[in-house]
Amino acid sequence: MSFYVTTPIFYVNAAPHLGHAYSAIAADILARHQRQRGEDVFFLTGTDEFGEPVALAAEKLGTTPQELADQNSQRFRDLMPRIDASNDFFIRTTDPEHGKAVQEVLQRVHDNGYVYKGKYEGWYCPRCADFKTENEIEDGNRCPIHHIELTREEEENWFFALSKFQEQLERLYADQPDFVMPRHRYNEARSFISGGLQDVSLSRSQLTWGVTVPWDSEHVFYVWFDALLNYYTALSYAKPGEDLRERFWPATFHIIGKDILKFHCVFWPAMLMAAGLPLPEHVFVHGYLLLDGEKMSKSLGNVLDPNVVIDRFGSDALRFYCFRDVSFGQDGSVSTLQFEQRYESELANEFGNLASRTTNMLARYRDGVVPDVALDPALVEAFAGLGEEVAALLDRAEVSGALDAIWQRVRRLNAYVAETAPWQLAKDEAKAPELDRALASVIEGLRVVTLLLVPYMPDVTAKLQAALGGPDLAYEHAAYGAQRLTKVDKVEPLFPRKTE
Ligand code: MSP
Repeated sequence: MSFYVTTPIFYVNAAPHLGHAYSAIAADILARHQRQRGEDVFFLTGTDEFGEPVALAAEKLGTTPQELADQNSQRFRDLMPRIDASNDFFIRTTDPEHGKAVQEVLQRVHDNGYVYKGKYEGWYCPRCADFKTENEIEDGNRCPIHHIELTREEEENWFFALSKFQEQLERLYADQPDFVMPRHRYNEARSFISGGLQDVSLSRSQLTWGVTVPWDSEHVFYVWFDALLNYYTALSYAKPGEDLRERFWPATFHIIGKDILKFHCVFWPAMLMAAGLPLPEHVFVHGYLLLDGEKMSKSLGNVLDPNVVIDRFGSDALRFYCFRDVSFGQDGSVSTLQFEQRYESELANEFGNLASRTTNMLARYRDGVVPDVALDPALVEAFAGLGEEVAALLDRAEVSGALDAIWQRVRRLNAYVAETAPWQLAKDEAKAPELDRALASVIEGLRVVTLLLVPYMPDVTAKLQAALGGPDLAYEHAAYGAQRLTKVDKVEPLFPRKTE
């Protein structure tokens, strides 16, 4: 089966922060998990380079939009290997191939009769690049996200006849209750639609930094329409000589933050309908990482730089933390202090210790040779159905839920070591069979959790795989007892303690 997952494409008006890394890590976890299951995966990310947010930022910095885009796009591109994102392509909306494909699709929308010329009058946030409706406005005509004053815009634009899709969108939501996930976001999108849809601006005439409207060269497309199409256009040129649209379109998952719900859950499906293209299967809407109670954002200035965290703790720790402290789908606060506490208590003490303790005991008592004996029914039971459970959760992009299910088994294994106390058994020759069973059972558990944690912690699990004698980590071996190890090396601390 094919699996196509995307992140939002990032604005290039400033450098990346942890909030951006968050969307990308989530998508990466899904991509890695599906590859482990042997699926045909395509994972897309990239940068959103046109439009007012970038034009304004460039003006402020005294540079050109192209220069700013080149500089910041590179920073997002560089972020990907740092967070171990395994994207198959990195799109830039300034790629000429993208612009051309946008023109083709929107020409079709035009030719299908969903575009007309009209006059826009209303409120606009230049940071969101969003025309706000009356019920999206904060007191004092301010943007509810950026808290800046909205501008009153009046211009002659090309319009997209969104209102014509009212009924079709209502039907889509009624027929596909998991089109948008989680449930509360589905409800939010659905009530936005049932509130009545108004037509939206498709072009801007007062801006030149954008994709030219093919039927009216005085206009460029409103940035959101060009940006949304990246998910489709990228497939047409990501792989020279091959049109990947046949293999991967429609997308399985668009991962997005809640601030861009309206565009992805309302405008995007309507636009695809207007162009006669198949719709994505799911849009997963995650919440915000908050710092001091506010959305971490470049305009508010309260950002955590993922590079700083990775330099000190490694990217696995960051990837783990993002989905451990805040449940994926909800908003939640993050802080350096909470990060360090979880690093210490869960990564170093629980997981790291489990790996070093058990492999060290095996080395000491059995020369690293895994006893070939029956596994303890207590652990057989504790792991029963785990592989299926994790896969089912990740099929719904429940990244935190799946991690929690795995972590409960990490804890169970630690408890098992404490209960069986192999160091006591080792003192009594008569208890050798019990020691054999305890060691074999816990090592098998370590293999299973290592396999399941591959998408979350690609680095550390690769180290563990080597120490465990190189077992195949394909998902088909996820069941407890499915693949018994023979020889295991001692594992050095996976998450060294940080003393300063
Ligand atoms: N360019 C648009 C998306 C176009 S997609 C066709 C955009 N870019 S963005 O750079 O502002 O945001 C990209 C993603 O990062 C969004 O999903 C946004 O929700 C996410 N995050 C930015 N700050 C965030 C947090 N503090 N917390 C979690 N995610 C947030 O929007």
